Amino acid sequence: MTNRITLPSDQDSTGRTFGPEELEAVRQCLATGTLTSTKGNFVRQLETKFAARIGAKFAYACSSGSAAVHCAVAALNPEPGDEIITTSITDMGAITPIIYQGAIPVFCDVDPHTYNVTAESIEKVISSRTRAVIVTHLFGNPCDMGPIMDLANRHGIPVIEDCAQAFLTTCRDQHVGTFGAVGTFSLQQGKHITTGEGGIVTTNDPAIARRIYLFINKAWGYGDPQPDHYFLAPNYRMSELAGAVALAQLEKLDAVVESRVRTAAALTTELAGLPGIETPVITEQGVHTFWKYCLRVDETVIPGGTVALGAALRDSGILCAPRYIQKPAFECQVIRNQVTFGTSRWPFTLARPEATDYSRSRFTGTWNALEHVLVLPWNEKYTDEHIEYLATRIRNAVLSLTSKDVCQVTAGR
Ligand SMILES: Cc1ncc(COP(=O)(O)O)c(C=O)c1O
Repeated sequence: MTNRITLPSDQDSTGRTFGPEELEAVRQCLATGTLTSTKGNFVRQLETKFAARIGAKFAYACSSGSAAVHCAVAALNPEPGDEIITTSITDMGAITPIIYQGAIPVFCDVDPHTYNVTAESIEKVISSRTRAVIVTHLFGNPCDMGPIMDLANRHGIPVIEDCAQAFLTTCRDQHVGTFGAVGTFSLQQGKHITTGEGGIVTTNDPAIARRIYLFINKAWGYGDPQPDHYFLAPNYRMSELAGAVALAQLEKLDAVVESRVRTAAALTTELAGLPGIETPVITEQGVHTFWKYCLRVDETVIPGGTVALGAALRDSGILCAPRYIQKPAFECQVIRNQVTFGTSRWPFTLARPEATDYSRSRFTGTWNALEHVLVLPWNEKYTDEHIEYLATRIRNAVLSLTSKDVCQVTAGR
């Protein structure tokens, strides 16, 4: 048995990449005395550099990944009651913006091995009221964007790519966040790079870019001959201080991703052939950048499945999450009970009954995915020693759970 070790954590300095570069950027920013991005230069530089790094024409920084999704939805300007297809396995911050903009989230099933939506699952829920599709590149594994874009283009439906967990992820040699009409990123504490809270929105379309920019800025037309507040919009600006940190973090992104991909491949090699364990299924022609590393656990081989294996690993200090978000997004109270504005239930009052039909039979992939997934924390500071530790503890836990079963069977005879 290997000695217990503590893994780096993305919740503190053990697993984050802050250093003298971020300190110096913040010092320089403070020295300018300008902390609003409407006047300063740090956020603007971040936007230019991020757009260039992923090959998008435009990027705009904002206050969170949820704000980024809100900007994306607002930029497409749905009519009240329009439907926006989204995934049933995602963060609530990717869903509430749909409702705030008066549209109906229509949930789409996922592939139980990649945990992502597919062209086939999206097609099943397209209706005459579909206004957009949000695809989420979950855990850093790309959705298969070829067939998804073919489908969306055939139906004339814009695609929003939620890349909160997918920095530098590619599909068919193209960065996610550049396939659809809009891409959204999160800079929250646990993401590949972070400013604690923060977000980025990308697009190649100048008209959409203009609306994103305005939506972040109370729809005030800065620099226009006769500026006004043109439409309903919040202040979602990123501060210059966060922009300074993000700019320094962006310089480290390639190394962060390279490290995560390398150590993930090493663990996959270590776990090859382990009974009852499926290592990540990477989308064909995709590069998975491992926000997290997921195991799919077969409970017919490993008694107790993901919950039992998760408990054993947590005993080893590996803070994994069996079942990820525990339940599909549509099972959360806000959606299930339509808890929105006062007691109105608006905009769900405008929904077609099929759009809010969350019957289990319509989401077999989703339930299957959540029942089997075990999400391991992943980090750019993992070393070969950490990977060896993870592999050993996983192997030992699997062995122990499967041999207990053999003993019980034997004892019961
Ligand atoms: C897939 C996805 N979308 C959106 C968000 C929302 O981002 P934020 O927490 O920065 O608001 C998250 C955050 O975890 C996420 O994982």
